[in-house]
Amino acid sequence: MIAAARNLVARRQTEEAHDPVMLARRAGIEPDAWQADLLLSDARQKILLCSRQAGKSTVVALLALHQALYKAASQVLLLSPSLRQSQELFRKVKDSYNALAAKTVTAREESSLRMEFGNGARIVALPGKEETIRGFSGVALLIVDEAARVSDELYQAVRPMLAVSGGSIVLLSTPFGKRGFFFHEWTEGGAEWQRVKITAYDSPRISRDWLEQERRSIPDWVFRSEYLCEFVETENSVFLYDDIMRALDGNVQPLFGGLATCSNSITSSG
Ligand SMILES: Nc1ncnc2c1ncn2[C@@H]1O[C@H](COP(=O)(O)OP(=O)(O)OP(=O)(O)O)[C@@H](O)[C@H]1O
Ligand SMILES: [Mg+2]
Repeated sequence: MIAAARNLVARRQTEEAHDPVMLARRAGIEPDAWQADLLLSDARQKILLCSRQAGKSTVVALLALHQALYKAASQVLLLSPSLRQSQELFRKVKDSYNALAAKTVTAREESSLRMEFGNGARIVALPGKEETIRGFSGVALLIVDEAARVSDELYQAVRPMLAVSGGSIVLLSTPFGKRGFFFHEWTEGGAEWQRVKITAYDSPRISRDWLEQERRSIPDWVFRSEYLCEFVETENSVFLYDDIMRALDGNVQPLFGGLATCSNSITSSG
């Protein structure tokens, strides 16, 4: 009886090793169809161009966890533009791990940004500063969250980490103007990238009514960028966008009073 139960667990583990969707479900997440496709894709280079709140960080957190649980001694690096965003992404990994009822591989949290697994794998989240990433090598999976906000210099510094390991890379972001490596890889990066575009209208969790309300409340170009995933033109709009986002940040005084009219229209969660 016990042997039969053990066999069943072993068989499930073997299946899950090839099927991250099983892991997602075990962590209590039923992936959207596009998330499931992504979890099952074996493309080595992936770009996700997604609406705000589409579920892009959630799905890459699952990819990271699956890699660490099933590839012993592998190193997974999560890069984000800021410390806050790194912590948020790392928390998603931790939440999924903690949600697993049966933990076949143990994990020790080394800090709020690092987790080491009993099989020697490690997940490290880092804010996007070139100094902090120097010294990493042999990265099996590199994930760059909010990639349109990460500098070209940093991207150039991290890419060689994949050279020796033959590791995979996932870039995910909402667009941020027609500039930078994220825009470049999306538009001209060649056939070696798998490209996935998910607008707010493709997401089952973002209501049409809410979107229509949002469309009326915020500038058209902001809506097209944040929810329709369009690389909206002009340097000016990019700067204006930053002003708007600053105005929405409760910790920063708005530069121009008028922009605060958008303050309840754009969410600022990571
Ligand atoms: N498949 C899913 N089932 C249920 N909830 C989900 C699923 N995917 C994501 N979510 C939830 O949707 C919300 C947004 O997810 P997430 O933070 O991953 O999106 P995002 O695209 O990274 O958003 P942002 O643009 O704010 O960074 C979260 O509350 C997350 O838990
Ligand atoms: Mg996110």
